[in-house]
Formats: sequence, C-alpha cells, structure tokens
Amino acid sequence: MKVIHIAAVPAGESAADEWDDLVQPDRVHRRVYTDPAIFAREMDHVYAASWVYLAHESEIPEPNDFRQAWLGTREVIVTRDEEGQIRVFSNRCSHRGATVCREHQGNAANFTCPYHGWRFDNRGQLFGIPGKNAYGPAFKARDMHLARPAQVASYKGFIFATLNSEAPPWPSTSAMPHAIWTPGSSTMGALRTSSWPALSAFASAATGNWSGTTRATATTCRSRTSRCW
Ligand code: FES
Repeated sequence: MKVIHIAAVPAGESAADEWDDLVQPDRVHRRVYTDPAIFAREMDHVYAASWVYLAHESEIPEPNDFRQAWLGTREVIVTRDEEGQIRVFSNRCSHRGATVCREHQGNAANFTCPYHGWRFDNRGQLFGIPGKNAYGPAFKARDMHLARPAQVASYKGFIFATLNSEAPPWPSTSAMPHAIWTPGSSTMGALRTSSWPALSAFASAATGNWSGTTRATATTCRSRTSRCW
C-alpha cells in the first residue's frame, strides 16, 4: 500500500499540486476536510464560479418576505419585493461592512443597518442616510447600493445565484453537471416542485469544511463506509 506523508503546512500555504494525492480510489485524506487553503480554493473555484442554490420560492411567498442564505462564504438576503420579483443582495452594509439584517427570515419592506442607520429597500437599494451631508461632497449614494450577485435565476421554485457573470445562463444544459440537470430525466428536471411548499430547511453546523459535511451526510444516507486517513 502506498503511504503518503503529508508535511504540516501553515494555513494558506498549501500547494495545489500536492492535493492530487489526497484523494485516492479507496480513501480520502482528512486534510481535504480541514485545510483552510483547500477550503479557500473550493470557495473560489466551485462556489464563486458556479450556480449556487439559495432558497425555495415557497419560503418567501408574500410580498416583502425575506430569508437569509449563503452564497459560498458570503451571506445574502433573498427577498420577494413589493412587485413579487425575487431579489438577492449582500447582507454586508456597503458602508463599513456591518451585517444589515440579523433575522433569519421575516417580512420587511426595508432594512436598516444597525451601525450608522443607512436604510436599504428590499431590492438592496440605498434610500436613507442619516446625516448625509456629513459624508462630504464626493460621496455618491447611488454607488452604495448593496452588492448583488452577477446572475440570479429561479427554476421550478428553486432560487439560484452565481457570482460569475460568465457562467452559462440558468437553467441550461451547460449550467450544471449533466447528472444534475437534464430536462425531463434528471433529478431536478423531473421535479414539479413550483407548487410544493418548503415547510422548513434542514440545517446543521460542523467544524470542518463543506465537503466533509456533505460527504458524511451522503455516506450516511448510502450506508457506505468512508475511509479517511
Ligand atoms: S456600516 Fe452600515 S451604515 Fe455604516
């Protein structure tokens, strides 16, 4: 049996060419689940580049409903605005980066940042600045709306977003791996879920990176033994 010796590497200094040996046909090295550099690379190359599921439309059925979600490591607010349009924008204030909304879910026509009181509507547009004159003549409120993902789309009630402006439009056969998206035959393509209400979401917290949690869950579901070393 080939034994792989992995030297301790300070966080953030892993070399990508070391990583190929970490995944073998019958086992996965524990570092895959714990190395901050691998985690950062995954966030960049997977979560920032791809379409990411955020929420189901039935979780925000009424005008002004909202819920929080994560787009990789970025916290976002998913809303249904007054006209019924789905909106997605950052939950980080465009002023000093404070968390704008601390409620996981609710109904609100606007959000007020708790730090300096800037007010944003539920499309992420800045419309209220206490003491606006104090910010000086160069300040341009029109440049300070909450950041939005490059693309947002809803498919059969499932809301997705991506930070990648060049990602293939969703839904399309090239937007997701074939096994996930094939109209009429895949898991999602076969679903007729736009009328299904999402009663609640399953959430859990784990110390480790996302792939470890996902793999552990999938392994449990399949009753297979996963080997790590
Ligand atoms: S950080 Fe939000 S208003 Fe200043």
